[in-house]
Amino acid sequence: MINLFIKTYGCQANVADSQSVENYLVSLGGVQVVDKEELADLILINTCAIREKAEQRVFSYIGELAEFKKNKSYLNIGVIGCMASYLKKEILTRFDNVSFVFGAKDDLNILKEYLHDLIVKLETIKEVYEHNNIFEQDNKIKFELKKIKRIINSKNIINKNKNLSDLALGGIKNKFLELKQSFINIMTGCNNYCSYCIVPFTRGREKSYPSNILLDRIKKDLDLGVKEITLLGQNVNSYKDPITNNGFEWLMEQVAKLNGDFWVRFVSSHPKDMTIDLLHVMANYSDKLCAYVHFPLQSGSNKILQSMNRTYTIEKYMEQIDWIRKILPQATITTDIIVGFPGETEQDYLMTRKIIEQVRYDLVYSFIYSPRKYTKASLMEDNCPIEEKNRRLQELQTRQMEICFENNLLTVGKTFKTLVEKRLTNGKLLTRTAGNLRVLYDGNDDLIGNFVNLKIQSAGRANLVGSLIK
Ligand code: 5AD
Ligand code: SF4
Repeated sequence: MINLFIKTYGCQANVADSQSVENYLVSLGGVQVVDKEELADLILINTCAIREKAEQRVFSYIGELAEFKKNKSYLNIGVIGCMASYLKKEILTRFDNVSFVFGAKDDLNILKEYLHDLIVKLETIKEVYEHNNIFEQDNKIKFELKKIKRIINSKNIINKNKNLSDLALGGIKNKFLELKQSFINIMTGCNNYCSYCIVPFTRGREKSYPSNILLDRIKKDLDLGVKEITLLGQNVNSYKDPITNNGFEWLMEQVAKLNGDFWVRFVSSHPKDMTIDLLHVMANYSDKLCAYVHFPLQSGSNKILQSMNRTYTIEKYMEQIDWIRKILPQATITTDIIVGFPGETEQDYLMTRKIIEQVRYDLVYSFIYSPRKYTKASLMEDNCPIEEKNRRLQELQTRQMEICFENNLLTVGKTFKTLVEKRLTNGKLLTRTAGNLRVLYDGNDDLIGNFVNLKIQSAGRANLVGSLIK
């Protein structure tokens, strides 16, 4: 039996990719998932390149794994995902303990074939190792191990199967099956070239997957008892069925028309492609399509938005926020913000702060700008000291926490349908509303993966507390 451990960094697209790789390996037979690195024969690290900090975390994690390799020289460590797309050679040169590297924009069928062969090899090597303690002296096996270490690309693996791989869509792994959640990539890549963003370089050009394949997959997941489906893409609003040209609104409507009691979410939207039609579809099927809109602002200053190549103005963005509030009055709205972008003055920053006051988001993911290789912004002049960027971020986050608390207080006394997600270490059940608000509840484990109606009793900054309504 080969023990597999997968460590995932980054966005939900990575979560979906890791799940499908895990599903695929388990489906081969002879592979089981373990929850500790020291138990693993194969460790896969799915990486994120969005900010330098994310990369540093991955680098130090790979370094820490050297210890496990000391005790088990046949341990294979594979690096996949966004960093693996553009740092292949660096990762292999810098880390002797890494066995192979496979990038996020490469054809997943190639990874599939490689992993298939690798599992067969590992099974043989592990068997020899377990029966023979002179493993280290066995040059034949050392030679095998050396052969395994390589960058996986189409040049050294023949791709026999050109069909769309199940791996591309993502999957549900056992843990998620218990949670009744499924994450599905409806597209990959991005064509937007926001000037700060590395994603178009690590995930490649935008590519939508055919809706018949997506709908079949969703039906299959619903048959397995899934209650929450999250449709994923860097910019889901620009989804286009490659055969029929039908857009995202159409796809959402088809999903909503499927039978069953389930929820559908999607991330992420780009304001330049968000349509009023999508909001109407969400309102028409509000029992299934969650009133949750992640709507990345990035900056409240038109000058900065232009320099970020976001192609919308703050006036247009606010008009769209008005649409959301009118058409989906109960909607939860969240956003992404970058502070300290090159050229951002105090004035520009204050404009961003003003927008968070006006919109009163339910959650803001905020980051300090991090220069990324290949991007236009990395070549822009940036005079703002890091201390000042830190101050802006701290101030914004402190104010946003107050706004979250004020929003949360408004929910007290209201009743929400929630999906029970898991038991937290504090003993409470964590549930989420359609708007993705966290509601804690004292209940039994058998409720996990089910919908319950909760009345909000009290509100904190991050969580609400609810009691069961029969
Ligand atoms: N620096 C800081 N934040 C970034 N993001 C993307 N690229 C960068 C970068 N270079 C943020 C954006 C995006 C979110 C996923 O990550 O806000 O919406
Ligand atoms: Fe990056 Fe912009 Fe594409 Fe989002 S839309 S992935 S921020 S380039």
